[in-house]
Amino acid sequence: MRLLDGKAVSNTIKEEIAEEVSKMVNAGQKAPHLAAILVGNNGASETYVASKVRSCEKAGFKSTLIRLPDDISEEALLEEIEKLNANDDIDGFICQLPLPKHINEQKITLAIDHKKDVDGFHPINVGRMVQNIPSYLPATPFGILQLLERYDIETSGKKCVVLGRSNIVGMPISILLARKAYPGNCTVTLCHSRTKDIANELREADIIIAALGIPEFVTADMVKQGAVVIDVGISRVPDATAKRGYVIKGDVNFDDVAPKSSYITPVPGGVGPMTVTSLLLNTLKAAKKEVYD
Ligand code: GUN
Repeated sequence: MRLLDGKAVSNTIKEEIAEEVSKMVNAGQKAPHLAAILVGNNGASETYVASKVRSCEKAGFKSTLIRLPDDISEEALLEEIEKLNANDDIDGFICQLPLPKHINEQKITLAIDHKKDVDGFHPINVGRMVQNIPSYLPATPFGILQLLERYDIETSGKKCVVLGRSNIVGMPISILLARKAYPGNCTVTLCHSRTKDIANELREADIIIAALGIPEFVTADMVKQGAVVIDVGISRVPDATAKRGYVIKGDVNFDDVAPKSSYITPVPGGVGPMTVTSLLLNTLKAAKKEVYD
């Protein structure tokens, strides 16, 4: 068993990005600028956005955090988005999800200028991804691809089972791993809440991507000997003995599954840090106008 150390890989990539940014700045160009909108005070979202802003600073980016109240109207949020779309100093921006229930997330996603959509959630970027046209890849799937690549893991011809069909992870990673590319060329099965026998599907998998959001769902009896196991879950499970009152659990029962796997991501320290790095890579692409003029 080998640990897929997302923290170490993401630090290496961040150093590479910082070096490139420093060259850009020395050549008289401006530093890439990422803005993040955070609505309300969802604890997990606060943590993710803080990590995104901190990583920007480390990489030499400019960052702007826009905090908006929980009861902001959809109209007012759309106005904020329009301001960011029109602001030439900002290369890319994100609106952290989930949003309060009275706001239509689809409407917000569509309002973000696809050229600045460094989350890769806009249908134009999703459509380009599907057809293998340069685009901003959604951060978590992009992070998973980089992890597979940096550890030189063979994917061609492998059976991959994805758990979960979210727009953010399950749907895009299933498309990316089926693409004619490396990492890719997998035979992909996408499992979800209506799948008849998930355990049976999982036992066939050479590569498992678990993105269900159910703590420790995947156990050793569902995993083939030697499988590559990528755990995207990050659930807060209440624990009175923990300092914060909760512990972070992935979708995989790590202690149970690790001995059977060839490679496995820890939680935390696996996919999470790679997600943040991917967002920086997309913002760098936006600043360099690599995807769109
Ligand atoms: N919420 C969970 N993951 C993400 C992400 O990658 N981007 C945004 N904007 N919100 C999220």
